Amino acid sequence: MIKHVPCQELKVGMYVHDLGVDWSAHPFMRSQFRLESEHDIQTILACGIRTVAIDTELGLDAPHAQTDEELQRQLDKEMLAVAQAKPIVVQQVSLQEEIGRARNLRGQATRLVKNVMRDARLGHAIRLEEVEPMVTALTESMLRNPGALIGLSHIKNKDEYTFLHSVSVGTLMIAFTLSAGFDIQTVHQAGLGGLLHDTGKALVPDEILNKPGRLTDEEFTIIKRHPMDGFELLRQSEGIDEIPLDITLHHHERIDGSGYPHRLTADNISTLARMAAIVDVYDAITADRCYHKGMPPTEALRKIFEWSKTHLDPDLVKAFTRCIGIYPVGTLVLLESGRLGIVVEHHPDSLLQPKLKVFYDTQKRHYLTPQIVDLSRPMGRGGADAITGHEKAEKWGIDLAKFN
Ligand SMILES: [Fe+2]
Repeated sequence: MIKHVPCQELKVGMYVHDLGVDWSAHPFMRSQFRLESEHDIQTILACGIRTVAIDTELGLDAPHAQTDEELQRQLDKEMLAVAQAKPIVVQQVSLQEEIGRARNLRGQATRLVKNVMRDARLGHAIRLEEVEPMVTALTESMLRNPGALIGLSHIKNKDEYTFLHSVSVGTLMIAFTLSAGFDIQTVHQAGLGGLLHDTGKALVPDEILNKPGRLTDEEFTIIKRHPMDGFELLRQSEGIDEIPLDITLHHHERIDGSGYPHRLTADNISTLARMAAIVDVYDAITADRCYHKGMPPTEALRKIFEWSKTHLDPDLVKAFTRCIGIYPVGTLVLLESGRLGIVVEHHPDSLLQPKLKVFYDTQKRHYLTPQIVDLSRPMGRGGADAITGHEKAEKWGIDLAKFN
């Protein structure tokens, strides 16, 4: 029987039926052969090949791999979905109009992720029919006004961290794939992958997951199982797509090979998994945890830029920065006039001149009646002004949640 095996699951003794690439793209003498050594597998991985067709009658079987028939059926289903897909038509609205809806949606999504993880812990399969409508609702909110959900993604409650983080990663994956121009089906699957990417953490004991302070080597080894555990849990769900499986399994891989579980290098990590790695790290370092205070979004972006020199994809880091802006929605900024404002909306062509809600005077040290100022329109209300940099809310004793 012909089966399609992801390259990371290849084993010595399997018989390669088709490498799926042109003869010039691999160094093997034949295109059909038995895998004789680990070296053969490493050579296939080094060619950037992701999936190989094996013949289970001539070599070892891969019990969980997709058969040729299953693959054809899946492709037919995907093609049908493309043909039947209705474009999402939503009317863009102001932040004010969207923020309430976005806040409710974020609450519902958090409860949903909590239930998914409780079910996973009890050994129940993930019910995609409950998760998929949530991804659609998040996407629609993002299309109505991206600032609402993105702004809220910086607000975290320490006790609910794991669930809120999953919702933020799902939300940011939707924003990132939309801004990078992916088709709506891929955006949907990437959002689903983001929402479910840490499902494997359901199997990590709470005392390790929420441990304040440094993890021991043994505890870190247990944490590092979550991508594989999540992948196994998701794989049991009827109708799960390749993309959420890939994001779940590979969001901790790093392009320099320093990640886990498979220590893959750049060419062997899909674009969406590399995007998920960026979003996952960005959201994790902006969050307040029981043992450290989260970084302001602008500092977190700077950190991500620094890491793009080593283990995060540099081109995708640039694309992510364009997506959320140097001063992402929700960032507190200081203006040349001495006023403080919170970024509420971006103009894609002028990321340094967003729309702000201005509400504090640092010179007179008092609150102002909140006013919307569009820095790209210096002649409008508020006059010409410019951002000098981001500010920490604690410095001025401000609770940002009140102004989101
Ligand atoms: Fe993770």
